[in-house]
Amino acid sequence: MKPFVLKRDDLIFLHRLIYKMRNPPTKFDEKAFIKKGRDYLFKYAEDNVGPLSPERRMFLKGLLIGIGALAVVSVLPVLGYLNQPEITLKDFPWMIVTDSNGNPIEASKLPVNNPAILVFQYPMQGDITFLINIGDKNGNPVAVPSTTVTIPENGATYTFPGGVGPNKSIVAYSAICQHLGCIPPEIHYYPPNLVQPNGPFPNYIPSDVYNIIVSQGINYGVIHCDCHGSTYDPYKGASVVTGPTVRPLPYVQLYWDPNTDYLYAVGMNPNAPVILGRSNDLSGFATLSSYDENTGCSKLLLQKGQTPTNCYTRLLTSFGNPFQQQG
Ligand code: FES
Repeated sequence: MKPFVLKRDDLIFLHRLIYKMRNPPTKFDEKAFIKKGRDYLFKYAEDNVGPLSPERRMFLKGLLIGIGALAVVSVLPVLGYLNQPEITLKDFPWMIVTDSNGNPIEASKLPVNNPAILVFQYPMQGDITFLINIGDKNGNPVAVPSTTVTIPENGATYTFPGGVGPNKSIVAYSAICQHLGCIPPEIHYYPPNLVQPNGPFPNYIPSDVYNIIVSQGINYGVIHCDCHGSTYDPYKGASVVTGPTVRPLPYVQLYWDPNTDYLYAVGMNPNAPVILGRSNDLSGFATLSSYDENTGCSKLLLQKGQTPTNCYTRLLTSFGNPFQQQG
C-alpha cells in the first residue's frame, strides 16, 4: 500500500467535502460520525460529493486515523480537524510521557504484561503509539535487546535499539497497523499469558497464526491485528511474524531518566517504515495550539537535552481493557 500523500485532487475533494459539511442543508452530523465512525463519513461523502474511488477511500482513511485517535482523547470537532494545515517539524521533539491526568509516567510503576491498551501520541496528533512493558510468562520484566529488523516488503534492514527503563523492558511502537491502518482495539498487545488460539474476540489469535508463533519460539507476547491477522513481535522490534502486513511497526525511541524514573519519546528511525498514513513521520496534522509552525517545535514539548519542567501535556490514555481473561 502506498503511503498517504496529500495530492491536489485530494485537496479539491476536501474543499468540496468541507463546503458540504458546513452547508446547513447538508450539515455533517458529528454525533453520528463519532458513533458510526468511517462508515458514516464514507456514506456522507458519497451522498454529497460523489462516488469514492479506492484511492479516495484511502485518503479519507488516512484522515480518519488521526480523527479516530483525537475523538477518543478529546472529541475535537471534525471540521476543525479537517481544516488544519499540514505542518512539518524540523526535528523530532523530546516529549515526556504522562498519564491521562498529566502526571509523568514512572517507568518502574508501568505494569508488566499489561493487557490494557496504553497509547500516547508521537510525534504528531493522531500518531498513536503503544507503550508496553514486556515480561515473561511469570510476569517478570524481560530486557529487550537491540536487534536487526528486516522489512519483508523490500528486504531492507534497520536497527531497533532495545528496551529502556530500569529493566530495559519498555518499548513503544506505532499502534497503526502497517497493513491497512487498523487502530486499537482491533490491533493490540497480547501478553504471553494471553497468547492462545481462538480465544473470544477481541482476544483472538487464529490457530494457524498461533502455530507460527509457537514454531518461531516467541515467548514474550505478540502485537496482533484482528482486522486481517497481521502479527508483530514486540520483543524483536515489532518485526513481522505473520502477514498480510509486509512492514514492521515503526518504533518510537524512548529515553528513560534514571533520576526521575520518567520516560521520554525522543525520535523515530528514518530507516524504519513511516507511520501508516503519513508521507513522512515529521509531516502531518497537528493542532497549532500545541506546535509552533515557525520553529517546528512544540510549545508543550521539551527541546533536545532539556530536563523535565512543567511543559508536559496529556499524552497517555487508556482505551480500557478489551481482553477477556481465559481459563
Ligand atoms: S489492518 Fe491490520 S491486518 Fe489488516
